[in-house]
Amino acid sequence: MAGLIGNRKIITAIFISGNGSNMKNLIKFSKSRSSPIYVDLVLSSNKKANGIRYLKKTKIFSKVFNFKKKGDEEKTLKILKKRKVALICLAGFMKILSKDFIKKFNGNILNIHPSLLPKYKGLNTHKRVILNKEKFSGCTVHLVNSKLDSGKIILQKKVRINKNDNPKTLSKKILIQEHVLYPKALKKFLSRT
Ligand code: GRF
Repeated sequence: MAGLIGNRKIITAIFISGNGSNMKNLIKFSKSRSSPIYVDLVLSSNKKANGIRYLKKTKIFSKVFNFKKKGDEEKTLKILKKRKVALICLAGFMKILSKDFIKKFNGNILNIHPSLLPKYKGLNTHKRVILNKEKFSGCTVHLVNSKLDSGKIILQKKVRINKNDNPKTLSKKILIQEHVLYPKALKKFLSRT
């Protein structure tokens, strides 16, 4: 895979839209010796994202594109190419990337989703899981393809739902597991070559 730094770490971009807890976690992970990724840039679709505020304390390059304008994807691709980014990690990114964009990345885009895919694709997963009285939910790291939350699954973690859980408590429990799962999935995914 092209886009290595120091001949070892994969040059990576993280795409966010909100809180950025997975982003922070991946940045922390990227600094460890055993991490296969180097976080070169963060792209946010929302200029008010908490994640962007956090980045001001770091030296990581960041960019805001709301992806509402036609040329935003092209501009993004140009920046990624210029910075030799070889992997994209979506982390709470609320926009849908075009088929063309995904194709240009040749299968090197990962996403984390807060359910046990293929169940509960899309939004409001915790609410729907609870309404359906599921006993378990969890999180999934998967490859991004042109269908929403449908790419090949890399790793999943199951989380038990208690009787008194609500969408908020469940989301907190799952988020903790997401922070363990994403680095593990990256190690697994990037050890395939
Ligand atoms: C996470 O639950 C992630 O699975 C989903 O969006 C949420 C983002 O949280 N795609 P954060 O912004 O990383 O804190």
